[in-house]
Amino acid sequence: MKILMVCLGNICRSPVAEGIMKTKLPENFFVDSAGTISMHKGKHPDKRAIKTAANHHIDISNQKSRPITKADFENFDKIYCMDIDVYEDVISKARNEEQRQKVSLFLDASGDHKNAEVPDPYWGNMDDFEEVFQLLDRGCDVIKNQILS
Ligand code: 4NP
Repeated sequence: MKILMVCLGNICRSPVAEGIMKTKLPENFFVDSAGTISMHKGKHPDKRAIKTAANHHIDISNQKSRPITKADFENFDKIYCMDIDVYEDVISKARNEEQRQKVSLFLDASGDHKNAEVPDPYWGNMDDFEEVFQLLDRGCDVIKNQILS
């Protein structure tokens, strides 16, 4: 199974989600991440995202930002979006119902109905990155259990 985590810039939230999910799933699962904008294409994750993941013994420093592509809708089985704007943008790029069915809001899929969106920590501080890590870690646990059951 192939899983794609998507946020806006692919330098803060989805790289961390990718890193966390890779630690939770067996190696035969493929996990990747992408953004809806190409502004940061080719760049490594934000230093604060790298540091936050490293604090939890997860190395995301080698990841590179890339925009989501048409091929992703064919290649991936599940596409998880970090917030509603990202979800709407991703859904609008899907070309048929089968592709739309692959797309969900990360926190909806992970049963977190208190928080609809993974907040964007880009304009925030290290505490905001840690809060995002905790949300993603809990959500990835639930999604992992769904996938493996
Ligand atoms: P991300 O965070 O979507 O979690 O990677 C952001 C990264 C960059 C920008 C916004 C959010 N930006 O405006 O450049």
